[in-house]
Amino acid sequence: MFGFFITKSYLSVVSYISYVYLRFFRQWFEFLYCTLCSFIYQFYGITLIIFGIMAHFFNYTSQSINNISLAPFGLDAFYLNVVREDLLHPFVSGNKFRKLKYNLKAAQEQNHTTLLTFGGAFSNHIAAVAAAGKELNFNTIGIIRGEELKSKIVENPTLSFAHDCGMKLYFVSREAYRQKTETEFIGDLKKQFGDFYILPEGGTNALAVQGCEEILKDISENADYICVPVGTGGTMAGLVKASEEKQHIVGFSALKGTFQSEEIEKYTSKTNFSITDAYCFGGYGKIDTDLIRFMNGFKNKTNIPLDPVYTGKMMFGIMDLLQKGYFKENSRIFAVHTGGLQGIAGMNQRLKKKKLPIIE
Ligand SMILES: Cc1ncc(COP(=O)(O)O)c(C=O)c1O
Repeated sequence: MFGFFITKSYLSVVSYISYVYLRFFRQWFEFLYCTLCSFIYQFYGITLIIFGIMAHFFNYTSQSINNISLAPFGLDAFYLNVVREDLLHPFVSGNKFRKLKYNLKAAQEQNHTTLLTFGGAFSNHIAAVAAAGKELNFNTIGIIRGEELKSKIVENPTLSFAHDCGMKLYFVSREAYRQKTETEFIGDLKKQFGDFYILPEGGTNALAVQGCEEILKDISENADYICVPVGTGGTMAGLVKASEEKQHIVGFSALKGTFQSEEIEKYTSKTNFSITDAYCFGGYGKIDTDLIRFMNGFKNKTNIPLDPVYTGKMMFGIMDLLQKGYFKENSRIFAVHTGGLQGIAGMNQRLKKKKLPIIE
């Protein structure tokens, strides 16, 4: 009996040490070690496994920067620093990780067990929330725009990924989807699904902007220009907020219009930024063979894959602006790779149907 207690205390101490070790050293084998120890000591074990998983997820923050020569693109004297946010996490990629980080912490602190969010057929955000929910043990609900997609989950790579992660998908008409921020609509969702932590479409809110500020952590001193793709403007808002006045943040809108500056102004009074929609290729999700060829060439020459909706358009724009002499001589230019690579499979399906070249 006495021996049993000693063994139990000993194991709990081992589990705790494992957890602390993991918290600061974030290696997988340590995580497995912690899990094993935690399993042995059941009650604390489960708690520690959850803490272990949380610690591991929130520690995916090391950033790598690729300094690439632009000589292969005919820009002999130029270099570009690509901030590889796409490598932060295998499934919660790029700005999605940044946007979710503090929201997931808040959901956890408020004892929520379910995350609910919104998105379209190929949404990076839906895929990221589903993967993060699976990893952190949250139930996830995705409200998807377009009732017609209900019968197409299997053939849609984004939706089938989210479904496989355990996300419950609910399809609503485009008309109903437009009400997604209205109190009555959200009240109806609460009646249907019970309590949940709500993440807005695209994931932008104050906590998301706070997370995106951290993108600049490792690069702030060195950059003159920081380029970023823009959807809602949340990621760019974080960058502008965290930047120094002498730096300039250049946003490449993935859709027609530069209205996102209004969103950015909600979060910061700084004005050291500009947005162009000159490289949106006709609108959100629209691409042509020039862009596909450019993206394939870019990957070939640099080994860096780009996504067709955001980063491909940004990189195309950066090259064009460099050719046109937009950036001051000898300036240090950074481009934030915000991820989104999961969208390539879905885009390639559409390109194949249209008999167009695909993204390699
Ligand atoms: C890969 C990728 N890059 C950039 C963006 C644009 O981010 P934001 O909506 O914060 O402007 C998104 C959309 O969220 C995205 O999925």
